Amino acid sequence: MLDMYAEEILERYKDPVNKGVIKNATSEVHETNPLCGDSLDIYLKIESGKITDAKFNGFGCAISQASADILLGIVKGKGVENAKNTTKDNFLKTLGISLSPARLKCALLSWHALMIAIGNRQNGH
Ligand code: FES
Repeated sequence: MLDMYAEEILERYKDPVNKGVIKNATSEVHETNPLCGDSLDIYLKIESGKITDAKFNGFGCAISQASADILLGIVKGKGVENAKNTTKDNFLKTLGISLSPARLKCALLSWHALMIAIGNRQNGH
C-alpha cells in the first residue's frame, strides 16, 4: 500500500497537473522551508468564496512538489470555508506515506502556504 502512495508522489513530481502561475490570482503566498532553502509560491483565484483555480510554482524535493500538486487538486473547486477543513492531519493521511520530521516540513510547505493564502483572503489582503 505504501508503495502505491510513494509511486503517486513520484508521478506527481514528474508530471504535476497544478504547476504554473495564475497571472490574475486573488491570493498569492511565498513560503520557504528554512531547513533546506527550497521555496514555493501558491496562487489562488477565489471568486464568490470559491477556489476556482489553484496553482503552485517553485523548486524543491519530490515530496514538497508532489504534495503541493496533490493539495491544490484537493482544494480546487471547493469553497474557501470548506478548504479550511483540510487539516494538517487529514492532508498527511491523504499523502499516505510515513515521513521523518524533516520530510514532514517538506510535505507541509504547501499546506502552510495554502492556509495563509486563505487567511489573507479573509483578512481582505
Ligand atoms: Fe527542501 Fe524538501 S528538501 S522542501
